[in-house]
Amino acid sequence: MGKRLLSGSDVTLMLLFALVSLLSAGEAEMIREVNGEAKSSNSSRIDCHPEAGSDQAKCEARGCIWKPSDVPKEPLCYYPETHGYIISNTVEKPSGITVDIVRNTDFPIQRSQSQDINKLCVEITYLSGQSLRWKIFDPANARYEVPVPLDLPAAPETEENNRLYRVQIQHKPFGIQVIRKGSKEIIWDSAMPGFTFSDQFLQISTRLASNYIYGIGETEHPSYSHDLNFHTYGLFAKDQPPGNKLNSYGLHPFYMGLEKSRNAHGVLLLNSNAMDVTFLPDPALTYRTIGGILDFYMVMGPSPEAVVQQYTEMIGRPVLPAYWSLGFQLCRYGYANDTEIADLYKDMKAAEIPYDVQYADIDYMERQKDFTLDKVNFKGLPALVDQMRAEGMRFIFILDPAIAANETEGSYPAFDTGIEKDVFIKWPPELSNDIVWGKVWPDYPNVTVDNSLDWDTQIKLFRSFVAFPDFLKNSTAEWWGEQIKDFYNNVMKFDGLWIDMNEPANFVHGTAGEKCLGDQTLENPPYMPPLESMHRGLNHKTICMNSEQILADGTRVKHYDVHNLYGWSHTKPTHDALLSTTGKRGVIITRSTYPSSGRWAGHWLGDNYSSWDQLLKSIIGMMKFSIFGISYTGADICGFFNTAEYEMCLRWMQLGAFYPFSRNHNTINMPRQDPVAWGAEFAAVSRDVLNIRYTLLPYLYTLMYEAHAHGNTVVRPLLHEFVTDENTWKIDRQFLWGPALLITPALDPGVTVVRAYVPNARWYDYHTGEAVGVRGQFVDMDTPLSKINLHVRGGHILPWQKAENNTHYSRQNPLGLLVALDDGGSAHGSLFWDDGEGIDTVQNKRFLLTTFTVSSGVLTSAVPTDGLAEADRLTLGLVKVWGVTAPVTRVTMSATGQPDTDLAFTYNAEVQKLQFDATSQSHSTEKPFTITWNTA
Ligand code: GLC
Repeated sequence: MGKRLLSGSDVTLMLLFALVSLLSAGEAEMIREVNGEAKSSNSSRIDCHPEAGSDQAKCEARGCIWKPSDVPKEPLCYYPETHGYIISNTVEKPSGITVDIVRNTDFPIQRSQSQDINKLCVEITYLSGQSLRWKIFDPANARYEVPVPLDLPAAPETEENNRLYRVQIQHKPFGIQVIRKGSKEIIWDSAMPGFTFSDQFLQISTRLASNYIYGIGETEHPSYSHDLNFHTYGLFAKDQPPGNKLNSYGLHPFYMGLEKSRNAHGVLLLNSNAMDVTFLPDPALTYRTIGGILDFYMVMGPSPEAVVQQYTEMIGRPVLPAYWSLGFQLCRYGYANDTEIADLYKDMKAAEIPYDVQYADIDYMERQKDFTLDKVNFKGLPALVDQMRAEGMRFIFILDPAIAANETEGSYPAFDTGIEKDVFIKWPPELSNDIVWGKVWPDYPNVTVDNSLDWDTQIKLFRSFVAFPDFLKNSTAEWWGEQIKDFYNNVMKFDGLWIDMNEPANFVHGTAGEKCLGDQTLENPPYMPPLESMHRGLNHKTICMNSEQILADGTRVKHYDVHNLYGWSHTKPTHDALLSTTGKRGVIITRSTYPSSGRWAGHWLGDNYSSWDQLLKSIIGMMKFSIFGISYTGADICGFFNTAEYEMCLRWMQLGAFYPFSRNHNTINMPRQDPVAWGAEFAAVSRDVLNIRYTLLPYLYTLMYEAHAHGNTVVRPLLHEFVTDENTWKIDRQFLWGPALLITPALDPGVTVVRAYVPNARWYDYHTGEAVGVRGQFVDMDTPLSKINLHVRGGHILPWQKAENNTHYSRQNPLGLLVALDDGGSAHGSLFWDDGEGIDTVQNKRFLLTTFTVSSGVLTSAVPTDGLAEADRLTLGLVKVWGVTAPVTRVTMSATGQPDTDLAFTYNAEVQKLQFDATSQSHSTEKPFTITWNTA
């Protein structure tokens, strides 16, 4: 029997994905309801009967109220006011409050399969002046708690005056209220009926401080600001392409809420079980989780940016990716061979389209096995990689977690050593000593696949068994690192790694064996959140929930509890292995994430469709990941599934040029959609917009540093900068890079004008440098096919460099400054610069931080940190100043130890633009300087 290529099965896989998505899209409500507008009631009913098949008898058996409603979507069965728990004892200390609570036994047990726990302990800790925690647990029996370490303050804030909040406890039903002292608003209020704590069903609700709430994922949401009209989102990591309301790759139980006082706060539920969140018009929300404990962390802001800063202080700041990873990237599933990649590279160079990173997907592997090379079709790949790297390009390879197990011809070291080191997920020993086998990509060796058979039969007959490494174990991280190092040293070089399928994805449901062993209530829990294919059980497209995993400290845990941490646990070992193997920091992209994944990796938004609605969805997705502490994000430009269409792909290239992670990628057997696949006009528009991206990379990199060092967002929702302007609270068709660049893409077919918001500040058109005549208003912006609207905010200075074919060359150009003056003629900005790829340059202060200030016609620089190696220094180049109202007569530059020099300049009175070039001065930017312009 001969080998075969995978295309047949993969087409089927793709069609299957498409079908699932069509079905769910068909069932879905297609109406885009904007938060607030669709609200029909202020109902405070908490659904007592979230399972399907409500009836009055079942409802009343739970002690709940059954009452019909003419309010659409309002639950008919809801909890009576006093349902929940009651306080039995309270102890107040300077560091917090401990409360013992007992179940109100006026009401019956709700689920016989998951009995309520009658006595609970509540520990409230004043973590700091801006943060607090409340943890609700069973004092009698230890339960699973999330092993993700958080950085919490060493000691609580015991001085009441230093705290932005105070806490009040409600007796019946028991509830916690958190009050912002400044505005006296209650921003958390769980004194709501329905609080439940049982083994596999835990429920808690809170009233919200306003109708504006953001976050909770990973699911596709129709808008960034949530619609509170009884919408429930199931959350569980799954190999599920983004689709309306569907749970997909990761879990982020974090939201940011706005308050009527225009302050903001954030709340994390540190729980890793499958769960759901329902938004209610009260306004309120309900969490339901099926395991663990209730462990909440709140940060008080008060600004939206401060919320993200404080949240990322706890979960870890976003990684600083290598400079080159901010360049444009090309990828495809289904490159036939290395020649196809070489030709693409040649064509991109010829078209002079900036581009830094080329990928190889699973095609490069021998039968899609990790750490192998297809020596027939990709024989020339290692040499091509060397050649491209020598020209300043970078290469990223994909790795999947599942390891093939049926190799018969010779050894497969990844599997063999994995067995030796006992890295694979097994059954609990009391059930079996075997590995929990699954099936993912590889076919059995030496089989011919009969493509006429259905997908499941093909999987059964032709796919090899795989084992899933347990990355929670330290020994697995070591083994994984060794495989990565061997591959780099013996097969091919690479600069970054792309980890995929780490939900973990499985092409059989649960196990390739007969069935999941053990307690079936873990596979099909008594309460099932509304997940994709929920009726198929939690192990649908993943491994059995009864599989056993081992924490670093040796504790045995069920996959049921740690499923959502699989991608998280895969990420740090991959990051550490990349650094130790290459000696550089590179970049990691991961599909499945959990709070704190951003410390090591970026995230792409998964297997999206080539459809117009995905442009908007990608902005919403990136904004959410911004507040989840993952700054390096983007969607597959032009879409992964289905055939891209010219205009959509062109608009997507324009939008994607402003994704921090800017990569065009699609799936196998689809037509090409890269910028040189569509003809000269498409290539020209792509070149122009990518040249803008490359010009602004020093600004983008400085923002990535700000995220890494201080927790600021990079892709920034408008409300983060203009929170006092309620118009910005719902805007998700525009976004900012940091505080100063407003991006207004065209997101719909056939448009040449975009209706968009100009926030209340002075703005300049990036393309012309002219000031915009309006502010705080919606306006029509012209957007011919060749253009994306970009505006620079007055008061800011953006560092830039002339674009080149890749960042290896653009980084060598002099540093330009774009000074956009505010109404008072002032501006400020900064530049972060390092060698672009060194490990821990920030921690080791091996970087340059320069700040720039303009006031009354004088530009000065200051250098708070000067740790740059000589080779990485930058000289000052062209400076553009926008908004100079009076004609300029003279420009002079001075620096310590140098005579003052006149600089040649141009001034355009009509657009009020001043421009001068300091290149001739060879002034190195780590030395402070002053430039003065005199006006007539
Ligand atoms: C998954 C990934 C996709 C990749 C494909 C093949 O679907 O999400 O990006 O191309 O697997 O590896």
